[in-house]
Amino acid sequence: GRGVAMVTAAAARLFAQRQQLQSLLNQLHMSTENLCKVQALLRREMELGLAKETNVIASTRMLPSYVRSIPDGSERGDFLALDLGGTNFRVLLVQVHSQEQGGVHIFSEVYSIPPQVAQGTGTQLFDHIVTCIVDFQTKQGMMGQKLPLGFTFSFPCKQTSLDQGILVRWTKGFSASDCVGKDVVQLLREAVKRQQHFDLDVVAIVNDTVGTMMSCGYDDPNCEVGLIVGTGTNACYMEEMQNVGTVEGEEGRMCINMEWGAFGDNGCLEPFMTTFDQTVDKASINPGQQRFEKLISGMYLGEIVRHILLKLAGQGTLFRGQASPALQTKDLFPTKFLSVIESDGLAQRQVRAILEELGLRVSCEDGMMVREVCQVVSHRAAQLCGAAVAAVVEKIRENRALEQLEVTVGVDGTLYKLHPHFSQQVKETVKVLAPCCSVTFLQSEDGSGKGAALIAAVACRAAQQQNA
Ligand code: GLC
Repeated sequence: GRGVAMVTAAAARLFAQRQQLQSLLNQLHMSTENLCKVQALLRREMELGLAKETNVIASTRMLPSYVRSIPDGSERGDFLALDLGGTNFRVLLVQVHSQEQGGVHIFSEVYSIPPQVAQGTGTQLFDHIVTCIVDFQTKQGMMGQKLPLGFTFSFPCKQTSLDQGILVRWTKGFSASDCVGKDVVQLLREAVKRQQHFDLDVVAIVNDTVGTMMSCGYDDPNCEVGLIVGTGTNACYMEEMQNVGTVEGEEGRMCINMEWGAFGDNGCLEPFMTTFDQTVDKASINPGQQRFEKLISGMYLGEIVRHILLKLAGQGTLFRGQASPALQTKDLFPTKFLSVIESDGLAQRQVRAILEELGLRVSCEDGMMVREVCQVVSHRAAQLCGAAVAAVVEKIRENRALEQLEVTVGVDGTLYKLHPHFSQQVKETVKVLAPCCSVTFLQSEDGSGKGAALIAAVACRAAQQQNA
C-alpha cells in the first residue's frame, strides 16, 4: 500500500518535472519555417549593407576587405602574422614555399591578453601586443628583420584599403578605450614607435573570416566563403563588385566581411528570442549589440544554459530547487561544458561530476535533464548558423545565375571544431535551406594566421609589380 503510493508519487513528480522542462525548452525550438524566415531576414540585411545608401542602417555592415582574389598558389616568402580576437593572441612566422619545397611552414607563440588589458586603455593593449612581438622575434632569433606583416584583427573594421582599418566597435568582451573610430594599423605603428630600435612593416589588416577563407582557398579553389564559430561568430564571402555599392569599380569580385554577429541589432530577431537570450544580452558588456552572435557563439552558449538551469532550479524542476553560488555566477558555466556533456557515450556519472563541481546536488534525473538543455541550446545555435550560411551560398548562386552551385566553406573556431554535433547540424540545416547548393565544409588549420600571411604575400607581390 504505502510503497506503491510512494512510487506513484515519485512517478507523478517526475512526470511533472519532465513537463516543466519540455514547456521551457519548447521556447527554444526553431521550426523549419522560422529558420527560413531568419534566412530571408539576413538576406535582406545583406542587400541593405551592400548598398551605399542603406549601408548605415543595416545591422550587418557587409564590410569590404579589399581582398579581391583567393590565392593562386604562386605566393612566396617569409611573413609575420598577428592574430588578435579569438581565444588567444598569437604571433606567427609564416614561411610560404612552393608545394615541392613543402608548402607553408608556421612557427608560432601563444600569448594571453589579460582582461584588464582587453578592457583597459588602447595604449596598454597595443603596447602589450608590441611587447609580445618583440618577445617572439627574440625567441625566433629574428630581431632586426623587417618582414611584411599581416594583422588578423577579428573585430569589425571599416577599410578603405588593405592596410587601413577603422574600428567600428569592439565585440567579444574587448573594450579598450580610445580605439573605436581609429585606424588600428596606425595604433599598432604608434605603439611600435614608442619602442625604440624596432620596426614593423604592416601590409594588411584582415578579419579572421577572411584569413580562414584565404588559407582554405590555398588548398581548394572552390573556397569562397569563410566561417568562424568560436568566441564570436561571423562569415565572409566573395561578392560581385557590381553589387558592392560602398566601393568604386564594377569589375571582378571582392571578399566581404559580413559581421553577421550584429544581425538582429535592429530588433528583427526579437520574435525568435527567449527571456534567457534577453537576460544574457542585458548582463553582457555590450547590451543591444551582437544579438545574433549571442545566440550562437562560444562566449554566450554556456551563459544561456546557465540561466535556463537557474530558472529550472528556481521552479523546483532541477537540483531539488537549490541553485549553488557557482551556478549563480556569470561565466562559471563555460561553453566547453556543453561539448563535454553532449559527447556520445559519456557516462551519466561524468555529467553529474561536472555539475557537482559547481556545488550542485544532482540526481540521475537532473543529469539527464541538464544534458537535454545543453542539446537544445547548441542545436538552436547550429540551426541559426546554418540558416545564415544558407543565405550566403544562395546569394552567391543567384549572383552567378546558376541552377546548382558547388562551393566550399572554410571554417575555424573552437565551438565548430570541438563540439560533438554542432558541425553536423550546421550541414543538415544548410542542406534543407539551400537545396540548390552543394556545400563542402573544410576545417582550416592555423587558418587566420596563415591567411593573413597569404594576403600579405599577395599585397607584396602586387607592390613589386607596380614598382617594376
Ligand atoms: C566577432 C567580430 C568579428 C569576428 C567574429 C569571429 O563577431 O566582430 O569581426 O569575425 O567575432 O571571431
